[in-house]
Amino acid sequence: MTLIGTPRRSPARPRLVAAQPSSGLHSATQSASVWSVGGGKGGIGKSFIASNSATVLARIGLRVILIDVDFGGANLHTCLGVRGSARVNLSDYLEDRVQDLEAAAIETSVPGLRLILGTLGHTGTALPTRVQRQQFVEAIRTLPADVVVLDLAAGMDRSTVDFFVGADENLLVTTPEPTAIENAYAFLRASFFRRLAAAVQGTPAEERVKEAWAERDERGLRAPADIVRELRRSEPGEAHRVERVLATFQPRLVLNQVRTGEEVRLGFSISSMCRRYFGVHLDYIGYINYDDCVWRSIKDRRALVIAYPQSDGALYVRQIVKKMLDN
Ligand SMILES: Nc1ncnc2c1ncn2[C@@H]1O[C@H](COP(=O)(O)OP(=O)(O)OP(=O)(O)O)[C@@H](O)[C@H]1O
Ligand SMILES: [Mg+2]
Repeated sequence: MTLIGTPRRSPARPRLVAAQPSSGLHSATQSASVWSVGGGKGGIGKSFIASNSATVLARIGLRVILIDVDFGGANLHTCLGVRGSARVNLSDYLEDRVQDLEAAAIETSVPGLRLILGTLGHTGTALPTRVQRQQFVEAIRTLPADVVVLDLAAGMDRSTVDFFVGADENLLVTTPEPTAIENAYAFLRASFFRRLAAAVQGTPAEERVKEAWAERDERGLRAPADIVRELRRSEPGEAHRVERVLATFQPRLVLNQVRTGEEVRLGFSISSMCRRYFGVHLDYIGYINYDDCVWRSIKDRRALVIAYPQSDGALYVRQIVKKMLDN
């Protein structure tokens, strides 16, 4: 059984407008637009991008809640200069010590930006159960925010992939290193399958998809598109619906820590490779150069866009957020 519903592509996405909190792009009754930041590999800049994008969004007047969806190595708070220990965190919500998710959101020094802390492994937190994850995914939609940004953990366990594909906007982060790209492909492949599984849940095609995924190597189904092709053959009645749902899965690629023009162009190759072999439309939304100001800002425990607003890194982050809002 899959946890995720079909994420909506927000019909009225927030526009990049001057700060007017009362002009609320999402009214109190409208649910937040959820952005997830994932990528598979650790240490590639997911938290840096999540925290700085969230800061940019708050600085233009949106109500933003940033969630550190890490149940072992949470450290997003450090990027924003928020003390992590002895504060309410995501586990308090999952384990019913706080009643609603909003109660776990703490203020940051950036007006309009609140943070829900993740957990550190040494606190003995267990991974969330399926029911807890389901509850969490539903609760996110009820948060009083214009945008909720999910900073995901490294790896591609089931909950991380579920949280990634369950969002309205999916930012896939990688660096130009072959190991990071390899993990990004694997993460994308797993995400595609989760979307596919969600699309066919409860239909006659559900079992076929599970089988095809489990036996993909023996059956020579190398790419997710092969599974769709097989589905088209075996369950023609479902294929059209599945394709329509999958067409809405359009993750955005962010290439981080680039150093050369050649590395910038790599983003286009990754994107076309995904289209050709995976059948996934991966929109290369932008890159961020390797910038010493990034680690300086983390050392200062401040967002780059505030500590070093004129740096190249801050400029590229602002450009990516602008494109996300404009698209
Ligand atoms: N554009 C960049 N330029 C220079 N350094 C960077 C850049 N992006 C990230 N870094 C460095 O990489 C380190 C890891 O970044 P970050 O913590 O955001 O990665 P992560 O993907 O969230 O890792 P994890 O999977 O462990 O949560 C940071 O300490 C930062 O110094
Ligand atoms: Mg991180």
